[in-house]
Amino acid sequence: MRKGRLFKSQFSSALRQEKALLSSVIFALLFQAALSMVQPWPLQIIFDNVILGKPPGKLLVRISGPFWPTISKNLLTISIVVLLAVALLNGLALYVQNIRSTRLIQKVVHRLRVSLFSHVMELPVAYFNKVGAGEIVSRITTDTADTKPLLEGGIILVCRSIPTFVGIFLIMMSMDLPFALLTLALAPFLAWSTYFFGQRVKRASRMQRRHESQLADVTALAVRTQRCLKLLGLQDQEVQRLADRCLQSRRAAVEAGSWQGFYTAATTVALTAGTALMVLVGVFRIKAGYISPGELLVFMNYLRSLFKPVREVTKYFNKISKAMACNERIEEVMAIAPCHLGVCEIPNAIPMPPFREEIEFKDVSFQYDAENRIFEGMSFRIQKGQKVAVVGDSGSGKSTLLSLIPRFFDTNGGQILIDGRDIRSFSLDSLRRQIAIVPQEHIIFHTTVMENIALGRPEQKARREEIYKAAEKANAHEFISQLPDGYQTELGTGHVQLSGGQAKRLLIARALLRNAPIVLLDEPTSGLDPHSETQVMEAFDNLMEQRTILIVTHDLPTIANAGLIIVLREGRIVESGSHEELLEKEGLYDFFWKEQVGRILPADIPR
Ligand SMILES: Nc1ncnc2c1ncn2[C@@H]1O[C@H](COP(=O)(O)OP(=O)(O)O)[C@@H](O)[C@H]1O
Ligand SMILES: [Mg+2]
Repeated sequence: MRKGRLFKSQFSSALRQEKALLSSVIFALLFQAALSMVQPWPLQIIFDNVILGKPPGKLLVRISGPFWPTISKNLLTISIVVLLAVALLNGLALYVQNIRSTRLIQKVVHRLRVSLFSHVMELPVAYFNKVGAGEIVSRITTDTADTKPLLEGGIILVCRSIPTFVGIFLIMMSMDLPFALLTLALAPFLAWSTYFFGQRVKRASRMQRRHESQLADVTALAVRTQRCLKLLGLQDQEVQRLADRCLQSRRAAVEAGSWQGFYTAATTVALTAGTALMVLVGVFRIKAGYISPGELLVFMNYLRSLFKPVREVTKYFNKISKAMACNERIEEVMAIAPCHLGVCEIPNAIPMPPFREEIEFKDVSFQYDAENRIFEGMSFRIQKGQKVAVVGDSGSGKSTLLSLIPRFFDTNGGQILIDGRDIRSFSLDSLRRQIAIVPQEHIIFHTTVMENIALGRPEQKARREEIYKAAEKANAHEFISQLPDGYQTELGTGHVQLSGGQAKRLLIARALLRNAPIVLLDEPTSGLDPHSETQVMEAFDNLMEQRTILIVTHDLPTIANAGLIIVLREGRIVESGSHEELLEKEGLYDFFWKEQVGRILPADIPR
């Protein structure tokens, strides 16, 4: 990321929303800067005026005004009191700064996380197709938190280090110009080394972050596929994969650490050499009568304060560089506009009117990536209230076809029309609200059975009776009643786990509650035993009442009564028609049918 962009980033917009906190932190820091300029002067007075008995400076007399006679008698006591007061105020300012900046940083991280996550939620399915879960998780949880030093260090540098540096340098110039200019001799070296090493730390940190995301991906996948890994005995291979990622992340971290080490060492040596040079020159300046010993003391003290910002840069340097890399990763995600990946709402999208007549696929072409075309010029119509079945080999594009209707992906050519209007003219929400999906995989949320069903219709809170009714129609009421806490049973990892048939019926209850006119089912009976299958199919018949159904299945007897059966092969419709029509054609459907029914009743195979 170019430096200018930081000020327009999410990070700074989150910061702008915390003006009150930010200004109190800034005030505390500026106050510390002011105190550091006052701090060495009591020492100079003690040294020059009390110990060496020199006449007091004009400035001191002028500041004291009418109190000078009293002050001059108690110079030592007053100097000590001022010294202590400065230390006390400095402590107070530090305390305020720490408390307020912690709160500020936590609030900014909170905002960053929420805005990043809500952006990710807006991204189309294609994004999740490309980016692993671990990668997304690490950006939202770790990267956001690791931007902290950017704020912590950045604000300290801008509001304390730089004002201190400038203020002290101006005072030093007014005391002894040549001597002050000498202290600047180190600046070019320090600036160059900060830039040079900073680039390298940042680059290594970016690599480290990338490897760590992959680490998260490997872990997430391994957790999800545990059973399969165990069965195939692939645990060792996965451990090796993780170890490889760890190694790469470790190497990058060590590289970043080494550059940081070089930087610290180089600056420490340079600063110590600089101080020695100052003492040497200072002694000559005292002998030549340009400055007093007390003033050299002030100079040396200021020199320490002057190099403090530099030391602060060193301290925050590694962290800030890392934080910049994290911030880049956040900005990278924020920069993805949903429209770049296809699916997005047109500016004048209208709410979809209630579904009345038909869904039409008109010359639809679709491909997931540049190489593989899934559909080409596909056309068919579905009338309202019709039950349409899609059958075909696996990989023929059945699930893909379903996913085009709620616009999980957009077509690459042609149109999908509902009641004669392109679905892209509707707002996404209103389109999806009229569709219920019973997906192939069992998506059960980590909450109660009740909530799991109620989620079917989040826009309008479901009454208890409605949920019971949906469960009854879905043939799910009976098994739910037998769960330990009935409808209040918690589901998911660490809680009750449902069988395939039970989960499917729960999903059907969810779809029933949704009460959407268009229902999409992806292999509702696959992987079920015959008894569960019968129960699911009964539930499914209830779901069908008054609705338009598109069902993908391998289970041909369940769809023999469908109004239209579409047979897909490699993304093309090879046949379509009713069950009887298709049997007469003696084509692919006929073949599937005989194969399947034949398995059950050999005597029934015709011919
Ligand atoms: N998310 C995806 N990204 C890229 N290619 C995909 C994706 N999902 C499916 N495919 C490919 O599209 C083709 C059709 O897949 P799919 O619609 O799932 O088939 P079916 O449901 O009929 O088994 C397959 O070749 C598959 O590899
Ligand atoms: Mg499928």
